[in-house]
Amino acid sequence: MCGIVGYIGDYRKTKQVLLEGLSRLEYRGYDSSGLAVLDNNQTSVIKCKGKVSDLQKKARKEKLEGQLGIGHTRWATHGIANEVNAHPHTSGSTSVVHNGIIENYAELKAQLQKSGFEFVSDTDSEILAHLIESGLAAAMSFEDSAREAFKKVEGACAVAAVTQKEPGKLIVLRNFSPVVIGLGENEKYIASDIPAIISRTNRIIYLQDGDMAVIEKDQIHITDLEGNRLQREEVLVSSDPASFEKGGFKHFMLKEIYEQPRSALDTIRGKISADHRGIELESIKPRQFSKIKKIIALGCGTSYHACLVGKQLIEDLSRIPVEVNIASEFRYSNPIIDKSTLVIVVSQSGETADTSEALLEAKRLGAKTLAITNVENSKISRESDHVIYTSAGTEIGVASTKAFTTQLIVFYILSNVLGASKGVISEAALSANVKSLVSIPLLIEKILKLDDRIKELAQKYNSFNNFIFLGRGLNFPIALEGALKLKEISYIHAEGYAAGEMKHGPIALVDENVPVLFIAPNNGINFQKIVGNLREIKARNGLVIFLTSENGADEYKEYIDDLIEIPGCDYNISPIATIIPLQLLAYHIARIKGTDIDQPRNLAKVVTVE
Ligand code: M6R
Repeated sequence: MCGIVGYIGDYRKTKQVLLEGLSRLEYRGYDSSGLAVLDNNQTSVIKCKGKVSDLQKKARKEKLEGQLGIGHTRWATHGIANEVNAHPHTSGSTSVVHNGIIENYAELKAQLQKSGFEFVSDTDSEILAHLIESGLAAAMSFEDSAREAFKKVEGACAVAAVTQKEPGKLIVLRNFSPVVIGLGENEKYIASDIPAIISRTNRIIYLQDGDMAVIEKDQIHITDLEGNRLQREEVLVSSDPASFEKGGFKHFMLKEIYEQPRSALDTIRGKISADHRGIELESIKPRQFSKIKKIIALGCGTSYHACLVGKQLIEDLSRIPVEVNIASEFRYSNPIIDKSTLVIVVSQSGETADTSEALLEAKRLGAKTLAITNVENSKISRESDHVIYTSAGTEIGVASTKAFTTQLIVFYILSNVLGASKGVISEAALSANVKSLVSIPLLIEKILKLDDRIKELAQKYNSFNNFIFLGRGLNFPIALEGALKLKEISYIHAEGYAAGEMKHGPIALVDENVPVLFIAPNNGINFQKIVGNLREIKARNGLVIFLTSENGADEYKEYIDDLIEIPGCDYNISPIATIIPLQLLAYHIARIKGTDIDQPRNLAKVVTVE
């Protein structure tokens, strides 16, 4: 993880560009930060533990002038979060920032110590500064010493380095961790991600794995690690600057929850056929999948939960068997794959290391691959044979909300496309499903009107230490997702279970101190069975919150402590509806508890380490 940023150009802008870039990259890590600014043969470094706002305060007191600089916001891997371990790391004339893990760290450190280099931090990253400095000490050029250093380190990383010995150059490496270069007139930017620099330029070069760039203010020289010259195209990116502002909301998470009618609409837009009875996907033609016998869906966290819903939809509507795996487990599970397997990888960011590694493994084994992602030009979108984009817009809150609902919409669309092409669903059924699909934005809008009701529930339930979420069928993954939302932003322990599984063990946890939240739209499969589970919980004095369709629980009110009623909808789109109150509940409980909602402790938005 971690965010890196760099600038070469105007003497007056460097400090401001770096600090602004870091604050835009804070979603990648936020336990410490730092920057180094070079003015000819002098380097000024400041760092501190805590948020980028702490660094900004510290930087205000420093002059920090120069035409070249690098900055970093950290998510600790090697070594605790403190000022010494914060980047940049310096060795003699060289300073570096690093995102990733150096796997052969111990061996390199021992060699460097033997050569007389002293380590001041507990990080693996400091190695890079010493390696480059040792090359410079041996009279190598900056470019050659950086290249030799990068060749020695093993593991995914992105690095930016500067040296007083060649103060007009910024050297960057991309090796399985993202880096982009932004182009300006007589100035250049580098960053882990576009939001860091989009307010400065939309002219972007995406580096590829193994690329090393030597950047001067008026030229860029890109090579591989053997020194062979490479050409990378400039791309004009469009980005809505408003998505980086809270737009009147207290937190990005709440803004993003409220953006869901729009993001749903944008994801559906352009995919309904002209006669409004069918679905068309620009990026895939169903015949490309006619030989597919099995699908494997992979993701992490919230994206994994989307896969669990996707499995049920695809199997129901197209009868193609689907396996789901956690991306970090897949690669090491000796998967059974051949060219009749389609591997679907789901990732909001398109950069999650566990998922991108799983994708590469699937390709190596000969599978066809399809990405469902929110970020164009991301690693996962570039590596996949086919891509369907969720049009959620930039998601900044660490807790994923609008990305999830748009992933579910894409799965629903894909299931219908596959089902129709295989003749599993009739024209009439497809046409009815299209109606359900187009009803989603308005449905979400209506559910958002429950916000005041959810606030009341948050007041009542915020002091409990344990929660259980229960669902069946399509709403079992929503139980997992509802529990994940609550855990990650309010730090309350929560478990999601398949409602029928409760009686096989977890029911032992239930008493009057454990709220149990049922997710049970009344047209769902096994609704009567879930009512049975409801009675079982009440018989053990559990506190019951029941999320169902309007009037769905009229006959069972005696078992329910609190009711959340959402408008009725087609069962297959119900997960898109039922998750919205759970997102709001997690948000309002976290707000009462005063946690850092957009940047919860120990987490980062994009997880680029395995
Ligand atoms: O960018 P990705 O969808 O690949 O991210 C996967 C997970 O890291 C992510 O969904 C994570 O679980 C979120 N914090 C959940 O809110």
